[in-house]
Amino acid sequence: MSRADLIDDLLAGRAKYSSIFNYPTLNWADIGAVGWLVDGAAIVNQVALQRTSYGPYARAMVRICKEESFHARQGYDIMMKMSFGTEAQKAMAQDALNRLWWPALMMFGPPEAESVHSAQSMAWKIKIMSNDEGRQKFVDQTIPQIEYLGLDIPDKEAKLNKKTGHYEYSDPDWSEFFDVLKGNGPCNVDRMAARNKAHDDGAWFREGLLAHAEKQQIAAE
Ligand SMILES: [Fe+2]
Repeated sequence: MSRADLIDDLLAGRAKYSSIFNYPTLNWADIGAVGWLVDGAAIVNQVALQRTSYGPYARAMVRICKEESFHARQGYDIMMKMSFGTEAQKAMAQDALNRLWWPALMMFGPPEAESVHSAQSMAWKIKIMSNDEGRQKFVDQTIPQIEYLGLDIPDKEAKLNKKTGHYEYSDPDWSEFFDVLKGNGPCNVDRMAARNKAHDDGAWFREGLLAHAEKQQIAAE
């Protein structure tokens, strides 16, 4: 499959991309919450992927993790400023957390039983951590951060299991997740329209590059 085929698939809506990109960012608090929760969830996956059996990906992940942890820290820094700021700022931080908590949990994919490729990917060690293990890690690292901010945990059922040392948590609405994958999330249509517009707007530039390359070739002959 060529690069052009992959781009065609993306623009036609056939390619998959992370479900999280189909949720809106409404205000500055969302910029903080996305960095903290969304990049934070991505890092949990990416740290594990440094040991994936596909070498080029594993090697690239090392630098990607460093970059991503910067995003997560920047996001948490914004959340600290807002949570320790005025009442209005704190309310914005809480609202952003409430809206992004569940979509962040969905980023790890459905529970193992409902995950289509999980077993095969685990057998080949492409994937080294199950969806549920990743989600548990994320919950365990994020709840103490919510408490530090003095915000309410969006999941009213979440609580520390003293025996296991892990937090018990509620599942997100998996029917919403599968609906977003099907193209029915709050922003799927907008996101695809933006991608297609950017591609169309860039046509003149791609043509220019080709024309330039042709001229160079003629000059070289
Ligand atoms: Fe990032």
